[in-house]
Amino acid sequence: MDPSSYTHSLLSFVVVLVLSTPLASSQLDYKFYDSTCPNLTNIVRSGVWSAVANETRMGASLLRLHFHDCFVNGCDGSILLDDTSTFTGEKNAGPNRMSARGYEVIDAIKANLEKSCPSTVSCADILTLAAREAVHLAGGPFWSLPLGRRDGTTASQSAANQQIPSPSEPLENITAKFTSKGLEMKDVVVLSGAHTIGFAKCSSFKQRLFNFNSTGKPDPILGSSILNDLQSTCPNQDSSDSNLAALDLVTPNKFDNVYYKNLLNNSGLLQSDQALMGDSNSAAMVNNYIKYPYLFANDFGASMVKMGSIGVLTGKDGEIRKNCRMVN
Ligand code: HEM
Ligand SMILES: *[C@@H]1O[C@H](CO)[C@@H](O)[C@H](O)[C@H]1NC(C)=O
Ligand SMILES: *[C@@H]1O[C@H](CO)[C@@H](O)[C@H](O)[C@H]1NC(C)=O
Ligand SMILES: *[C@@H]1O[C@H](CO)[C@@H](O)[C@H](O)[C@H]1NC(C)=O
Ligand SMILES: *[C@@H]1O[C@H](CO)[C@@H](O)[C@H](O)[C@H]1NC(C)=O
Ligand SMILES: *[C@@H]1O[C@H](CO)[C@@H](O)[C@H](O)[C@H]1NC(C)=O
Repeated sequence: MDPSSYTHSLLSFVVVLVLSTPLASSQLDYKFYDSTCPNLTNIVRSGVWSAVANETRMGASLLRLHFHDCFVNGCDGSILLDDTSTFTGEKNAGPNRMSARGYEVIDAIKANLEKSCPSTVSCADILTLAAREAVHLAGGPFWSLPLGRRDGTTASQSAANQQIPSPSEPLENITAKFTSKGLEMKDVVVLSGAHTIGFAKCSSFKQRLFNFNSTGKPDPILGSSILNDLQSTCPNQDSSDSNLAALDLVTPNKFDNVYYKNLLNNSGLLQSDQALMGDSNSAAMVNNYIKYPYLFANDFGASMVKMGSIGVLTGKDGEIRKNCRMVN
């Protein structure tokens, strides 16, 4: 990418907003609920707004919930299904347990939707819409969404464990997980920009602070100032595992391009964040998003539509759940 792509991005930004994007699954439809649930956008927006007004972090949590839904058997609301005595779902998979959050917010939005348009809007679409509203509310971009996803009737804890990227695996492995979903390395770089908001538990990055790659030492790339700060947030004992650190230490609640700026001075929180600088192609994209914030905003919307189209159920497949926590 070169600076001339800025002009191109201005054009494509308008195109993404006005026309349907070619990245979207052709079975999804930008007008899907226009006649069956005309107030859908307002209802989701107001549910996200109240949740974020109560707790700022919730916007980030909703964004992550959509990602973890889409990467496991497609965007089918599977992450929302509760475990029962006969059913093991995704909520207690490694990447989600004690970490994925926002389920009550989705429940509240669903309950409101059931009043206005019963058995009409899928939980998978609610997740998609809530993620977009959360980004916009945090000062990030807004994009048009094709809708019409249907809810799955099953979930897979083992798929969640295997397919959701881990913060300690190398960039090539993360890229391979994205590629297996029809995404590419560019989407890894763009969507990692979601880490411009939200928080991580010490357990997600603590080995970088004390025992990086089994060396018994901190990750040498961490500067002494950020290392000291993080070590005081996350002392080297199990009791600190659930303490939190901001993924973007400079503007943790604002959806901007500062996440990428932090990578330039080795202040990425997760190993997988900083790893974007370890490859010349991804590092070039990072530098471009620092230079052209508008390009990041535009590309983020496009990659979200792409991610939101992974493995969707449409037509007569799946169902419209009445309660997002259980199949009908
Ligand atoms: C590229 C591979 C990715 C890895 C390895 C990764 C890993 C992580 C980890 C370990 C956390 C902290 C979890 C915790 O400690 O509780 C986290 C948080 C988060 N992730 Fe990612 N992530 C990735 C991609 C994404 C994508 C694609 C999105 C959304 C588009 C996303 C959105 C978020 C958000 C918003 C948070 C903060 C959540 C909160 O504060 O509740 N991540 N991620
Ligand atoms: C649409 O939803 C919003 C948010 O819940 C609500 O304030 C408004 O009254 C609704 N409008 C209609 C026409 O139902
Ligand atoms: C508001 O946020 C707090 C956490 O900060 C949470 O415990 C509480 O349940 C939330 N209340 C509502 C109504 O969402
Ligand atoms: C990365 O992927 C390779 C090939 O699939 C695998 O052998 C390796 O264990 C993975 N590394 C990590 C840290 O997951
Ligand atoms: C971890 O250590 C192994 C050798 O012990 C090395 O091959 C590998 O590159 C190291 N990984 C990182 C991320 O530094
Ligand atoms: C890293 O860069 C950010 C700007 O992105 C700045 O606010 C921060 O102070 C810098 N941190 C270090 C340790 O240099």
